[in-house]
Amino acid sequence: MTLAKEKTLADQVRADFPILHQEVNGKPLVYFDNAATSQKPLLVINTIRDYYEQYNSNVHRGVHILSAKATDAYEATRDKLAAFIGAASRQEIVFTRNATEAINLVAYCWGMNNLKRGDEIILSVMEHHSNLVPWHFVASKTGAVLKFVDLAPEETFDLEQFKKLVSDKTKLVSIVHVSNTLGCINPVKEICEIAHKYGAKVLIDACQSVPHMPINVQQIDCDWLVASSHKMCGPTGIGFLYGKLELLRSMPPFLGGGEMIADVFLDRSTYADLPHKFEAGTPAICEAIALGAAVDYLNSIGMDKIYAYESELTGYLFEQLGQIPSIRIYGPLPKIAGLGRAALAAFTAGDIHASDLSTLLDQEGVAIRSGHHCTQPLHRHLMTSSTARASLSFYNTREEIDIFIKALKETLDFFGGLSS
Ligand SMILES: Cc1ncc(COP(=O)(O)O)c(C=O)c1O
Repeated sequence: MTLAKEKTLADQVRADFPILHQEVNGKPLVYFDNAATSQKPLLVINTIRDYYEQYNSNVHRGVHILSAKATDAYEATRDKLAAFIGAASRQEIVFTRNATEAINLVAYCWGMNNLKRGDEIILSVMEHHSNLVPWHFVASKTGAVLKFVDLAPEETFDLEQFKKLVSDKTKLVSIVHVSNTLGCINPVKEICEIAHKYGAKVLIDACQSVPHMPINVQQIDCDWLVASSHKMCGPTGIGFLYGKLELLRSMPPFLGGGEMIADVFLDRSTYADLPHKFEAGTPAICEAIALGAAVDYLNSIGMDKIYAYESELTGYLFEQLGQIPSIRIYGPLPKIAGLGRAALAAFTAGDIHASDLSTLLDQEGVAIRSGHHCTQPLHRHLMTSSTARASLSFYNTREEIDIFIKALKETLDFFGGLSS
């Protein structure tokens, strides 16, 4: 008698992702570029189609039935997101174009108005460009000083150094939750606790955590948190900013125009209440509604289950990559990662250029990313100009890791026997 193999999470959900079932260069697609953008389940794809086929209409302003339906669906996503990340109120969720715009909103509306010469902003060397460049703008305009948390020896966030950097001068700490390059999960709750003792505000870049693990903003106690829909099974063109209610209330609007006003006169205007104060102009309606479908989809699986399955995949990925001596993986090993490690591995192999690795892997149907992954300062810090990155999601399988490893070994052998 043979025992039936237990179905993994990926086995259960793969049929929901039509894009995964295709050949690339004559080989079955192995999509390992999830940190750049995730694939979309049928529920999201059908939601987009239903919207345009059945109730495409502008929101908030119309009384007709299509507009009412679009408005209800659009606003329902706000409720879903508030529940998904444990916000205290739906008014704390602001739709933006992506996470980048959400960080810029905080930089312009809070940073430019609340920081002055000599105030300090603490970032880390592992930040994505979208959590660096807006603060460059703020620093050069206000005279605030940027300080950077370094890496601990195991290539994680150096909490001990952070404790030394933070002081009464610190007004803002803006830190990535999960590094898109190192894969480390940063101790955001502890960071908030320490920063708040000094009266500093904390922004968490949760682009790489919200799609992969349960998040509760009230437990973390962050002041703002940002994420992008396209990395969490939703469409591009929409992201969101979470902010504590009173803090968002204290911030002036970002963009001016329709939707964000209470009253407009020729020479002045008053503004709508939260969250509309920050949502000028016709929003990305369909995208917001489809983001709601993505949240429904993730909830139907359960974020605990997603995190547990992806952690298991991470272990297997590291076990397999660890058997190739020429591979140098950046970031902590799963077993010494403290809070855990995301299901991604950025790596180099001897002198082989990362883009050569990804080009040859593409020939085998394996999609990985190469480059600096928008963390140029981190790459400089690690003394490499680029890395190859395999990033997984809950619809990926061990079998796909095997295909990736086989293709990688063949590629390394092609470059001169680097696989063993
Ligand atoms: C950690 C992190 N922060 C911010 C971003 C920016 O996201 P978006 O381009 O969707 O605004 C990314 C995207 O790769 C990311 O990985």
